[in-house]
Amino acid sequence: MDVVTMKDQYAELAELAGGFIHDLKNHLSTLGLNLQLLAEDFQQPQSQRERRALTRVHKLQAQCQQLVDMANDFLRFARIKDLALAPADMGRVLEEMIDFFAPQAQKRNIEIRSYIPADLPRVSLDLELFRLALLNLMLNAEQAMPEGGEITMQAMAESRNREDDASAVVLHLIDTGKGMSPEVLARVFEAFYSTKEDGSGLGLPTTKRIVEAHGGSICVESAEGHGTKFTIRLPALAEAPAAV
Ligand SMILES: Nc1ncnc2c1ncn2[C@@H]1O[C@H](COP(=O)(O)OP(=O)(O)OP(=O)(O)O)[C@@H](O)[C@H]1O
Ligand SMILES: [Mg+2]
Repeated sequence: MDVVTMKDQYAELAELAGGFIHDLKNHLSTLGLNLQLLAEDFQQPQSQRERRALTRVHKLQAQCQQLVDMANDFLRFARIKDLALAPADMGRVLEEMIDFFAPQAQKRNIEIRSYIPADLPRVSLDLELFRLALLNLMLNAEQAMPEGGEITMQAMAESRNREDDASAVVLHLIDTGKGMSPEVLARVFEAFYSTKEDGSGLGLPTTKRIVEAHGGSICVESAEGHGTKFTIRLPALAEAPAAV
C-alpha cells in the first residue's frame, strides 16, 4: 500500500471514530444528567439504604465524567488537522506557559528554570494547540516528580551553517524525574500507551501530532532514575528583508 492510500484510509478511519465518539459523548451527557437528577432525589437520605444508594450514584457520576474526559481527549487528538497559524514570538509563548504553570509547580515542590534568549526567530504557531502540546509535556514532567524536582526549559535558534539566518527554533524540556525504561521509552508516542492508572495515553501522541502539524519534530531521551529530555524543533519564519 502506498503512503497516500494509507493516509486516506487513516483519515477515513479517524473521521469514523470521531463521529462515533461524538455520538457516544451525547449519550454520556444524557446519562450524566440523569445521574445528577438521581443524586438530587437522594440528597437528604432517610435511611442507610438511601445513603448507600447516594454513594453509588456519586461513584457512577465520577465514572461517567471520566468517560466524557476520555472522549474529549480522543476528539482533540483525532481533530488536529486544520491549524490557525500566525507568526508568534516563541520566547513570549514559553514565558506565558511558565507563568501559567508556576503556581501548580510551586505547590508540588518543582522549580522551573528557563533559558530563553531574547532574540529568538519568530515561528508560525497555532497558539492554542501549541500551548496544549507544551502543557502535556509539563504535566508529564510534574507527574514524573512526585517528590518535586526541576523542570528546565531551554530555547535556542539553530542555523544550517554559520552564515545562514536561523532555520529552526529548538526547545528542550528537561525534568529530573524518574525517567523511563527502554521498553517504556520505545512506546511513549503510541496512542493509548500509558503506565499511569488514570492516564489516557494520548498526551504525547497529541503533542507529537501538534508539533508535526506545525512542520516540526519531537524526540525524547531518558535515563531511568535520573530524568527525561524532550526536544522540539520548529521551522523558523524567514525574516522579511529589511526595507531599502
Ligand atoms: N517526563 C516523563 N518522565 C517519565 N515518564 C514519562 C514522561 N513523559 C511520559 N512518560 C511516560 O510515557 C507514558 C505516555 O505519556 P502520555 O502523556 O502519552 O500519557 P499519560 O501521561 O500516561 O496519560 P495522559 O497524558 O492522558 O494523562 C506515560 O504513561 C509515562 O510512562
Ligand atoms: Mg501525559
